Amino acid sequence: MAKKLVFSGVQPTGNLHLGNYLGAVKRFVELQDADAMCIYCLVDLHAITNWQNPKELRQNTIEVTAAFLACGLRKEHSIIFNQSQVTAHTELAWIFNCVARIGWLNRMTQFKEKAGKNRENASLGLYCYPTLMAADILAYHATHVPVGEDQKQHLELTRDIAAKFNNDFNAPDFFPVPEPIIEGTATRIMSLRDGTKKMSKSETSDMSRINLTDDNDSIRKKIQKAKTDPFEIPSEKEELVDRPEAENLLGIYATLANQSIEQTLEQFSGSDFKKLKGALSDLLISELEPINKEIKKLLDQEAYIVEILREGSERADQISRPILEEARQLVGFLK
Ligand code: AMP
Ligand code: TRP
Repeated sequence: MAKKLVFSGVQPTGNLHLGNYLGAVKRFVELQDADAMCIYCLVDLHAITNWQNPKELRQNTIEVTAAFLACGLRKEHSIIFNQSQVTAHTELAWIFNCVARIGWLNRMTQFKEKAGKNRENASLGLYCYPTLMAADILAYHATHVPVGEDQKQHLELTRDIAAKFNNDFNAPDFFPVPEPIIEGTATRIMSLRDGTKKMSKSETSDMSRINLTDDNDSIRKKIQKAKTDPFEIPSEKEELVDRPEAENLLGIYATLANQSIEQTLEQFSGSDFKKLKGALSDLLISELEPINKEIKKLLDQEAYIVEILREGSERADQISRPILEEARQLVGFLK
């Protein structure tokens, strides 16, 4: 079996929130520390599928990189870079645009959600976003992709593209069919204001999410104001059905305390939300305060961050270039 190669991406479109942290970045760090070969990408090409203010895009790329480092990613152990500095992504994405079928892309729920009612006016890039994502992963022959639940369908499409390319060009096993890693209690953290919507950078109310840059007072305030229901905390998991806000807060607590939902219910059953919220705020603060301080420190060292991304891009280029070259030959491009 080939060596495990981990790839994942995060859009530099704003502050990272608790969903990004628990669903993705914290697990990136665990994989890095478990000694896998890891490549983590700031997907700026994906970011511009919705118009970005150029100054903000640049600043967000720096800030999300600072957050990666503050959470524990290390350039000595992982390749950290921004997508637009490595040309294999867009070149391979074009080939994949010709492999993937319109019918496959028409099924993507993220496009439907993001394009909304005015689909005719969405960018073409937003529509073929998933073929670029497949290129990100397959340009490195990555085998494992840690993501939150919302990316599951895109990973399935990536697997279909890998299999169809291998078949169309008679190259069995050229692209490995990658495995998603969507595990644990935090694959879908929900909004603090509405337990049926996922926590997201694009939600207008900042009260709906905990940002990695929030100070302790804001964390306490947001948790205190988080929506709940009028019932007490139950003792059985089954009783959380139709109580999405309760399930979300308990799930966040369980993840941070490194325990199961069952253990968490045992701890809080019969009490009201005040007790859970107090304990949850304490846990959040002890986890996020050091990260928050480190992000602030790193933001004073912009040149250092720019250099990490440049170096990372060079290393990413060295790995992806020969794979792209082989793909080009398989397709029949004259050199
Ligand atoms: P994005 O900010 O959309 O680029 O997402 C970066 C990573 O965070 C992806 O792996 C997402 O699946 C994950 N993610 C985003 N929002 C959430 C959420 N609310 N809960 C869990 N994971 C999330
Ligand atoms: N689409 C992912 C998201 O919005 C980000 C992403 C882009 C990604 N390319 C990737 C994730 C490759 C995993 C692997 O969250």
